[in-house]
Amino acid sequence: MPIQQVPAYPDVDALRAVEAQLASFPPLVFAGEARKLKKQLASVAAGEAFLLQGGDCAESFVEHGADNIRDFFRVFLQMSVVLTFAASQPVVKVGRVAGQFAKPRSSDNETKGEVTLPSYRGDIINGIDFDAASRVPDPRRQVMAYRQSAATLNLLRAFAQGGYASLENVHRWMLGFVSDSPQGEKYESLAHRITETMDFMKAVGITSETNHALRETDFYTSHEALLLGYEEALTRVDSTSGDWYATSGHMIWIGDRTRQADHAHIEYCRGIKNPLGLKCGPSITPDNLLELIDKLNPENEPGRLTLIARFGSDKVEEHLPKLVRAVKAEGRSVVWSCDPMHGNTITAAGYKTRPFDRILKEVQTFFDVHRAEGTHPGGIHVEMTGKNVTECTGGARAITAEELQDRYHTHCDPRLNADQAIELAFLVSDLLRDNRPAEQQKQAASA
Ligand code: PEP
Ligand code: CO
Repeated sequence: MPIQQVPAYPDVDALRAVEAQLASFPPLVFAGEARKLKKQLASVAAGEAFLLQGGDCAESFVEHGADNIRDFFRVFLQMSVVLTFAASQPVVKVGRVAGQFAKPRSSDNETKGEVTLPSYRGDIINGIDFDAASRVPDPRRQVMAYRQSAATLNLLRAFAQGGYASLENVHRWMLGFVSDSPQGEKYESLAHRITETMDFMKAVGITSETNHALRETDFYTSHEALLLGYEEALTRVDSTSGDWYATSGHMIWIGDRTRQADHAHIEYCRGIKNPLGLKCGPSITPDNLLELIDKLNPENEPGRLTLIARFGSDKVEEHLPKLVRAVKAEGRSVVWSCDPMHGNTITAAGYKTRPFDRILKEVQTFFDVHRAEGTHPGGIHVEMTGKNVTECTGGARAITAEELQDRYHTHCDPRLNADQAIELAFLVSDLLRDNRPAEQQKQAASA
């Protein structure tokens, strides 16, 4: 089928050999886990839960380490605790992690001065260094990405199920550099309230030993299913249901550049049963969207499809309402999520960056639109890290364009740092609180 964003592998035999090898490797995730996530997303679609999806724009081989994974996971847990508290609803936790390696590019080439080379397409395909050898697509990188994903997932599973995510640790998730910021103080006071509640529950006999929901959490993985050869090699028949599943991650999504209805990426995703994401940017029309929903979720199964709106703070108001209305009018069950990152990228002081106030504005408008249309603002999709990077400008610590050079480490798009991620969570929590039924709001106000 027609396909966009395909790397030009010079050695096709080597590529086939790697794909055959990957096809013999164990699955990274199991079909039953993907089904469990789909069920949780169905409750988001029903307006009874909130989706938090986030992580690196692009994972990289050099940044693979236990500290990075731990710091990402603790910021993610902090965000989710802030959101759970505000919404009084479960937060479905999905990382952009353990597989987020392939990047779609606006241009096939990159030019610096006199030199033009093929664009970097993510560590699973080629190298980021600006030299001809690095930019040649190398299939062996797919095996590296698989092994890194397995190791990352292993640690995340241990963190999620092995006690680290216990609500008893709510104070310990705080990172040193966040603790002396305004966000840190706000978080500490929330953590204190949770600890008080836990003490009360302990007094009446509900402890983390007796109740696993206090002790562990469900954490899922996701990535853009861009490199279809890799995805296909990890696509397996589930022995219990007889259905096909992507086993490279629990949820996969289709990028804004590869969502043509009659192209290969949609065809692949149509054939697997995992929960799917679909990025919706300014070029999508209501008719396009309904056609894609017909293909991707013909049985209108709740939790199957998450629409990830990424319009930009200045475009969301123009584009989102007509899509929300069309989907609602046709009675389609979807999760609406807001990616406030990809439509808000600008260049400042020579760096690709995103102003924090534009990110907030897009989220705020997303909530406004759903409130006006009577639909559920189901979630957010963010690029973030647990590190103290300087990649997005603004936030409570007011990172300036001049400061971007201090700790600009991303391999692709600018991410929220830990402070900014927690700040965003608090702002979303205010929006969620405003969205709660009047009765609950009254109770919250008097508490
Ligand atoms: C991404 O999520 O990193 C991405 C490239 O997004 P989009 O497809 O929405 O541009
Ligand atoms: Co990105």
